[in-house]
Amino acid sequence: VGTTPPEALDDRTPVAPLPEGVHPAWLPASALRPVGSRRVRVVGDGPVVATVRGEVEAAVAEHGGTLVDLGPADLELVCAPDDGEEDPESFVVARDASTTTVRAVAGNGLLYGFHHVVRQGESAFEGTLELQRHAPRQPVRMLDHWDNAAVHPVMGQVERGYAGGSIFYDDGVVREDLSRARSYARLLGSIGINRVGLNNVNVHRPEALLLTERLPDVVRLAEVFRPHGIKVHLSVSFAAPVTLGGLPTADPLDPAVGEWWARTTAAVYAAIPDFGGYVVKADSEGQPGPFAYGRDHADGANVLARALAPFGGTVFWRAFVYNHRQDWRDRSTDRARAAHDNFAPLDGKFDPNVVVQVKAGPMDFQAREPISPVIAAMPRTRLAVELQVTQEYTGQQKHVCHLVPQWSEMLGFPLWGEGEPTVADVAGGRASAPAGGVVAVSNVGDDRFWTGHPLAQANLFGFGRLTWDDRIAPEDVLDEWIGLTFADPGVGKALHELMDGSWLTYERYTAPLGVGFMVSPARHHYGPDVDGYEYSSWGTYHFADRDGVGVDRTRATGTGYTGQYPAPWRDLYESTETCPDELLLFFHHVPYEHVLHSGTTVIQHIYDTHFAGREEVERMVATWSALEGRVPEDVFGRVTELLAEQLRCATEWRDQVNTYFRRKSGVPDARGRRIY
Ligand code: GCU
Repeated sequence: VGTTPPEALDDRTPVAPLPEGVHPAWLPASALRPVGSRRVRVVGDGPVVATVRGEVEAAVAEHGGTLVDLGPADLELVCAPDDGEEDPESFVVARDASTTTVRAVAGNGLLYGFHHVVRQGESAFEGTLELQRHAPRQPVRMLDHWDNAAVHPVMGQVERGYAGGSIFYDDGVVREDLSRARSYARLLGSIGINRVGLNNVNVHRPEALLLTERLPDVVRLAEVFRPHGIKVHLSVSFAAPVTLGGLPTADPLDPAVGEWWARTTAAVYAAIPDFGGYVVKADSEGQPGPFAYGRDHADGANVLARALAPFGGTVFWRAFVYNHRQDWRDRSTDRARAAHDNFAPLDGKFDPNVVVQVKAGPMDFQAREPISPVIAAMPRTRLAVELQVTQEYTGQQKHVCHLVPQWSEMLGFPLWGEGEPTVADVAGGRASAPAGGVVAVSNVGDDRFWTGHPLAQANLFGFGRLTWDDRIAPEDVLDEWIGLTFADPGVGKALHELMDGSWLTYERYTAPLGVGFMVSPARHHYGPDVDGYEYSSWGTYHFADRDGVGVDRTRATGTGYTGQYPAPWRDLYESTETCPDELLLFFHHVPYEHVLHSGTTVIQHIYDTHFAGREEVERMVATWSALEGRVPEDVFGRVTELLAEQLRCATEWRDQVNTYFRRKSGVPDARGRRIY
């Protein structure tokens, strides 16, 4: 009992020690105490099971329990293989009077089952539990890194990154020291993430080379992720046959182009047999694509898909295609329509290993948007839904903006009306086509708290939890995160209060009623600038004048966008009578005196929400300051600093938006508050 056979030692992946000074996120030592203080056995082989064993080994060393490899013993936790035929990612958990048992057919399932027990804490070891089965609702749970290998002169190293530089790359190549990446892989495995896109969808020269010359770099990253059950993907440039292969064309129907992709892909799989596949942004915001050759997106995606198919790889082909050189004078072009216009007609033309990756909203990760109509429009195509964990338009990790409730709402949206399949059902393959999955842009960088704002870790955690099961209540996900991250159980109530409604708070003090943007352009998208995009080429306008505000996207008098939805939404959104308040200005241009369902006028709503949103931030500051001494000092300091910035910025939003609309409309605030 308690002695370890030498062969078992070879199969151990020690849990990577957290690099000096780096915050442990939701896996501090305290979170592993309930497991680490017990007698535990881990059975099975392979790199992911070895990770589970490594976790237990580290936890018992810290907390005084025992990893029992052999012989009878009073075991309290057993993680062991099961010989069913089930999904390799699912697991079962059960408990008799003395022992909690986790069983799974494969390493991933065992890892997820182990972390399920960790999240349950002491209660996983209390009472008894009938066999309970857990399976992910999404087979693909993916994070895309918009990391540039080298620092880009305009976008920096991580495009839309608010947490420092890349944890993968330094100076154009993969870092020598991958200890941060190792700790990151562990965090992702613990929340069930199973794929990672390693580089920016805008592929510059240094990242393009990862596919060929610098492939050994990718091999090293794949090795970092493999023990945590995570496959790696590369973003590739559609022009690679020209820029890397020296061919005269990247025309997807040219046989030499197909051969180049096949040869190049075979070389990737020779080096990384479990490589996930590609991510492609084509004909979008200046990236090359099939349009240059008179081909469509199906032609483009399929040539890559055919290169990947022999190896079981997948291409995630992004639907974020629109005219970013629009003339603002042109009222007939509507950016919201673009993805549907480009992709819906291609339904049924994509190969089975193509996943069309659709941003959840039709515009671009705003605090409020309707669901993209593409998601209901391609029943014969595998679709993935793309979210943004990095807070590009939601406070850039300077503001507390807990996005899990937003994602929960989006994933649960019934695409054909109440009781019908949801966004999560389409992504998870329960509606018609097989699953594509849920993908998000990561919010992680080399910042010591991983996410810049320590509380933004909750968004990363919540993304993993919701992609595993979108039916978990967002407030429960938040409590899980708080419970794991903070050792003092007394902070839970205050933190919950501070974070839970913070997305709606953010919405209140920024662009009103779904109209979006009003952010500072100058490439950074931070802080208010009501007309910042109004005369730009980006297709993101609010059309405010002295009489009213909003975008007419109706079939009757506007751009016809409402017609891209199936019933009942096409009719519900078409009429101001039935359009939900929070999306009113996304769908309609209305007079300031238009009365909302809530009973107030649009102009008064703008004033009220902007005063209220800013006041809520003031309360957040007070709630947080009461936690001094109860949360780690470094966390307290960073959050205090950032809350001061959030309050400053929310004040600026309130005053600029209110002043702008007061001046445009001439309508005073009914409550006589100060507007400049
Ligand atoms: C946004 C973002 C870009 C990004 C693009 C995309 O527009 O600002 O930085 O490249 O989305 O999703 O491809």
